[in-house]
Amino acid sequence: MVITKDTKLANVIFQNYHLIPIVSRFGIKLGFGDKNVQQVCNQYDINPDFFIEIANAFNDKDYLPYKKLINMPISLTVSYLLKSHHYYNKIKLPNIEKLIELLEWEGEEAGKNKSVLKKFFSQYLKEVNEHTTNEEKEIYPYVLELEKNFNKTKLDSSFIEKLKKKSIKDYADTHDELNSALLDLKNIMIKYLQPAKNKEITELILTEIFKLEADMKDHTKLENNVIVPVADMMEVELKKRNK
Ligand SMILES: [Fe+2]
Ligand SMILES: [Fe+2]
Repeated sequence: MVITKDTKLANVIFQNYHLIPIVSRFGIKLGFGDKNVQQVCNQYDINPDFFIEIANAFNDKDYLPYKKLINMPISLTVSYLLKSHHYYNKIKLPNIEKLIELLEWEGEEAGKNKSVLKKFFSQYLKEVNEHTTNEEKEIYPYVLELEKNFNKTKLDSSFIEKLKKKSIKDYADTHDELNSALLDLKNIMIKYLQPAKNKEITELILTEIFKLEADMKDHTKLENNVIVPVADMMEVELKKRNK
């Protein structure tokens, strides 16, 4: 299904409930009745073209939105990526952490099992946190500054020095998919840990982890296929202008 401005937003959710957090990230609240995408976007002051590209990209792995997103203001993508970071760090990961606390084992190993799982989880938490903090403090502000200068006739003098030293290619080269600690966490839960007494909680935790992983993969694709090429194009152009 390709989502268009005429698609009823409720139908978008009916055919793929994984889009619930995506819709919520745009600030849209449930209870949108029979309104279509255009009407809901108008109500929440969202750029409908941008919304459609993000929703389709998440909905269909073969959908290639990047060409269109590349031609939209990069600040739209950055703002969406920031909201995703907030969702991972402040909502999803703390929820998973709470679920881990609810796990119970029988016998003497109970305390040990929980502390092993908590250790692996905190490693994953740390990895996500370091990754997103670096992007929020270094990468996104730089990309926004590039765009600001790109739209001006004269470059900010403070930015000229930055432009000489920085390159988005350095970020692109080291930008990975955050999966080493995640793989360890999944392995420990699926292959090695003694099953908990309340196994429905284990299943819930695993489902949440897999959903989060899919969301983050999509997020990384946006960074690699929109942020990096657009920033690279602006860098090249600004360097030329500044010669
Ligand atoms: Fe990110
Ligand atoms: Fe990233």
